Amino acid sequence: MTDEDSKITELDPSKLGTKDYWENAYKLELNNYTDHGDVGEVWFGEDAGQRMVNWLSEHPEYVQPSDPILDNGTGNGVLCMDMEQEGFTDITGIDYCQEAIDLAEKIKEEAESQVKFQVGNILDKESSFFKSKFKVVTDKGTYDAISLSETAKVDKVTYIENTHYVLEKDGLFMITSCNWTEQELVTMFSTHFKHLETIPTPSFTFGGKKGNSVTTVVFNKIDL
Ligand SMILES: C[S@@+](CC[C@H](N)C(=O)[O-])C[C@H]1O[C@@H](n2cnc3c(N)ncnc32)[C@H](O)[C@@H]1O
Repeated sequence: MTDEDSKITELDPSKLGTKDYWENAYKLELNNYTDHGDVGEVWFGEDAGQRMVNWLSEHPEYVQPSDPILDNGTGNGVLCMDMEQEGFTDITGIDYCQEAIDLAEKIKEEAESQVKFQVGNILDKESSFFKSKFKVVTDKGTYDAISLSETAKVDKVTYIENTHYVLEKDGLFMITSCNWTEQELVTMFSTHFKHLETIPTPSFTFGGKKGNSVTTVVFNKIDL
């Protein structure tokens, strides 16, 4: 263990780290969508997703519109459909929660979108999406949720290994987190990923200390 690793403190487990929580949340959101067309919680706000989409479309040297993209823990799938709107054509959204995929499929139908949605668990290599390789993996809030499970310490390592596995050589991993700082993410992912860029996010100052409520970091897969 390095000095940096030892500075990472595990988070206290919470209901957001359980599958039950997400199943109930998306069941409710599916009902709301059916009743009045509300797509549900936009995690970390509209701007967070838009910043991710903008960065991808502004960096053709790393990602082309036809490159395969995996959105890991896609929830309502809105980030996928936003990427599609920006011109990306090969997008897969996976979530371990059937209810989330049902909601994403409903929204997709009305949006006349071509995004592929499927149930899949990033911690379980038996999930069928592991048969494919992706140029980019995006994550908005999923590593955060996994970090809150009872088994977070082990799951975070599995997450990093499996994300590395599904990426093509030189692939990119883009993560938006509210639980971890830029430095913590860079430290945790350093076994499998090289820090490429941190996308600027609004910062706040409190008690003389400057911080960011949301962090978006882009990593390059290391060839191990
Ligand atoms: C904070 S929500 C974010 C959802 C979506 N990315 C968004 O920005 O709206 C976290 C998501 O991660 C999903 N999730 C948690 N653990 C997962 C796992 N092991 N594999 C796939 N999805 C998972 C949950 O079902 C939930 O949809």
